[in-house]
Amino acid sequence: MEVKGKKVGIALTGSFCTFDKIFVELEKLVAAGADVYTIFSNASQQISSRFGVPEEFLKKAEEITGRKPIQTIEGAEPIGPKSYLDILVIFPCTGNTCAKLANGITDTPVLMAAKAHLRNDKPLVISISTNDALGMNMKNIGLLLNAKNIYFVPFGQDNPVKKHNSLIAHTEKLIPTLELALEGEQYQPIMESF
Ligand SMILES: Cc1cc2nc3c(=O)[nH]c(=O)nc-3n(C[C@H](O)[C@H](O)[C@H](O)COP(=O)(O)O)c2cc1C
Repeated sequence: MEVKGKKVGIALTGSFCTFDKIFVELEKLVAAGADVYTIFSNASQQISSRFGVPEEFLKKAEEITGRKPIQTIEGAEPIGPKSYLDILVIFPCTGNTCAKLANGITDTPVLMAAKAHLRNDKPLVISISTNDALGMNMKNIGLLLNAKNIYFVPFGQDNPVKKHNSLIAHTEKLIPTLELALEGEQYQPIMESF
């Protein structure tokens, strides 16, 4: 199913090294005719790092989508009762958010959006980006892989020699992953090497 005309939530969490790639895909989504809403976790709207400052990320998201990002739990909550998103992607998804989501914790705008959206039986896509994916977070990824209405952007080991436990999603596969998830299908292969 095409993303054109679909209301797509893009929820950003604090994997700052992937933000450049995230904004490229955001632009592609808007160009493809999707109606995009961004949601920022507390970390992603507060932490400054060598990858940039949050004010810039928030401004860029607004410029690309034409809509102010959702930055609070109360701002994300209506995604449940109003049921206005067709699909939501945690893009990128940190180990922290993955662990909390798998364990039913809802203490950031992104996790509130995910909980609210899942309540409506609609697809949630995870774009993993964490150094502990094959370590402490493997059990949580396993729980999410096996959960109803949850799909993954295909992922792989980005640096198996130096970062044994790291997995990163192939962010450029976002649109094809969304198209299939909108039909209730997981993009395959789900694991691809870099
Ligand atoms: C510069 C920088 C880069 C980071 N990159 C990642 C990352 O790629 N993956 C990850 O899981 N956490 C990363 N973190 C840690 C998260 O930002 C941290 O766990 C934070 O609590 C995540 O909160 P959130 O999941 O609510 O956004 C990074 C932190 C900093 C300061």
